Amino acid sequence: MDWPHTGTDAVADISLTLDDQKTPFATFRPPASCTLDTTTLEDGPHVLHIRARDGLGLVGVRSIPFHVQNGPGITITGLRAHEHVAGNVVINLNAFSASEPFDPTRAESSGPIPVWTWVMIALIAAWAGWYGLSEYQEPAAFAQSVARDSLAAASAPMTTTKAAGTSGGGTAAGFDYAASGANLYTANCSACHGATGAGVPGAFPALADDPVVEAKDPKQQIGTILRGLHGATIKGTAFASQMPPFAQLSDNDIAAIIDHERTSWGNSAPIVNPDDVKRARE
Ligand code: HEC
Repeated sequence: MDWPHTGTDAVADISLTLDDQKTPFATFRPPASCTLDTTTLEDGPHVLHIRARDGLGLVGVRSIPFHVQNGPGITITGLRAHEHVAGNVVINLNAFSASEPFDPTRAESSGPIPVWTWVMIALIAAWAGWYGLSEYQEPAAFAQSVARDSLAAASAPMTTTKAAGTSGGGTAAGFDYAASGANLYTANCSACHGATGAGVPGAFPALADDPVVEAKDPKQQIGTILRGLHGATIKGTAFASQMPPFAQLSDNDIAAIIDHERTSWGNSAPIVNPDDVKRARE
């Protein structure tokens, strides 16, 4: 090769050769950059040799091995490098090029699902089943809910028919409005409103055929019992005396009294339940 001699130790030129080529494919003065077109090379291992020569004729060499991969990638299962094999060997092959959209099923060649994967799946499924069964308990809210009671009640023959309540009404568990309502009314109310709800004309209003007692919405009736009443004109009569508050009675008792009034003496209005009273207190 024809190297120019400058007579100094300054680097005169750099030349590049590939593999065992004799002639450089590029020669230039440093510093420089160049482009290596790998598509002109066959896929596989190659070595780039860089030779730098100074003005005194001394040559430094660096060799860089590299691997070209322009063609389709190849995956293989069933045969590994340096593996010892005997008899028939099943080999799975696949190939993909860099320009194809990435597809995981093709980037790997298919192989059998390892046995331990099935073992893990079986163990996890068994544990999930056991956990679900051991943790299941009837939700407390449902166990005491009216919905559950009515499911049970629906399968038993109905003996009584109740008027529809404002909040789905009916008999609260272990509580009979009609019986305790009559007793509570007698104890707390009958002195003024009379045993038959007729009241005392001019002094205490009748609760039989009373617009508040007969009202579909029990709000005013509940409010009157909780907070008392004074100065109202009822069916054209203004009462001098006042209705005392009965907030000290329980929600159950007030509901029972109201339902007794709403279903007695010719009255027939929707019944209430203790929750209605509880809400009215708030
Ligand atoms: C001390 C007598 C007295 C007692 C006891 C009494 N009330 Fe009254 N009640 C009255 C008077 C008086 C009025 C009318 C007040 C007014 O108009 O200002 C009244 C009004 C009412 C009203 C309103 C009626 C309407 O049309 O507005 C209802 C409902 C009622 N009472 C229910 C009851 C219930 C239920 C009890 C028992 C828990 C009861 N009262 C106990 C005296 C009494």
